[in-house]
Amino acid sequence: MAKSSRTPAQPAGLTEGFRELAAVVTGAGSGMGRATALALARHGLAVAVLDRNEEAAKATTDLIIGDGGRAHAYKVDVSRSREVDRAFAKIQKKLGPVGYLVNIAGIDELCPLEKITDEAWARMFSIAVNGCFYCCRAALPGMMERGFGSIVNMSSLHAVRGQAGRTHYAASKAAIMGLTKSLAREKAALGIRVNGVAPGPIDTPLWRSGRGGGALTKDIAERVKVIPLGRLGTAEEIAEIFVFLLSSHASYITGQIVTADGGEIMP
Ligand SMILES: NC(=O)c1ccc[n+]([C@@H]2O[C@H](COP(=O)([O-])OP(=O)(O)OC[C@H]3O[C@@H](n4cnc5c(N)ncnc54)[C@H](O)[C@@H]3O)[C@@H](O)[C@H]2O)c1
Repeated sequence: MAKSSRTPAQPAGLTEGFRELAAVVTGAGSGMGRATALALARHGLAVAVLDRNEEAAKATTDLIIGDGGRAHAYKVDVSRSREVDRAFAKIQKKLGPVGYLVNIAGIDELCPLEKITDEAWARMFSIAVNGCFYCCRAALPGMMERGFGSIVNMSSLHAVRGQAGRTHYAASKAAIMGLTKSLAREKAALGIRVNGVAPGPIDTPLWRSGRGGGALTKDIAERVKVIPLGRLGTAEEIAEIFVFLLSSHASYITGQIVTADGGEIMP
């Protein structure tokens, strides 16, 4: 019998729910993107690790390869359509056809609306919304040709609930919800599912960098007061939701935004 290229420690049956197609994860150099890339690789998928931070992307790839998985790092700024298109062309050659796309790359910024500059507003949308659009556009032709694909986009609780000081951030994440639902309707008959995840506060470098330095512990204590589960979420918990939505275990789910916020809002 041929020897598996995956680590012997790999629990049996993990490939269940996935086809032999490559996965692309944007923002995979850190936080939830990294956790999702690692989780998908553990499920046996070859993972294209996209990030504008090349070192971070390579570090994620090293972790995956060290774990016995398959991955390749691509330095891509998702807000630049040419970079995205070039990367997808390379990915198909290196890792094979792309069946799974995870759009996670994003930034955060705290700023009252009257102080948001044109450039800051445009930057927020160009990374979150344009980046998601460019990657979906690059992945779709192959998915449509094969009649199979699964896409999951990163939104945010702030898009549902609103957040003072983050109007551009929340508006961009709400745009992602509209894109997700419309694309899900547009491509459902072609075998392509499109879903989203809207996390509450997740303990990542991005979340910490947006909060109060020395006052971080106090900030966390204040924040969790309104969370019934009483804590921040972890990147690994969110990664599991991405994996589920991408997999065939979610084969009857499309156009949905899964909120993961410790119970903060219960619509
Ligand atoms: N952390 C939270 O509480 C939280 C909650 C809801 C949604 N989100 C969203 O989840 C996503 C990931 O957040 P995180 O907390 O894991 O952040 P993170 O900073 O740990 O990771 C984000 C990654 O995206 C990359 N990135 C940023 N701009 C990019 C670009 N233009 N092109 C390619 N890569 C780019 C960064 O280099 C970084 O590696 C973001 O879209 C964020 O808005 C975060």
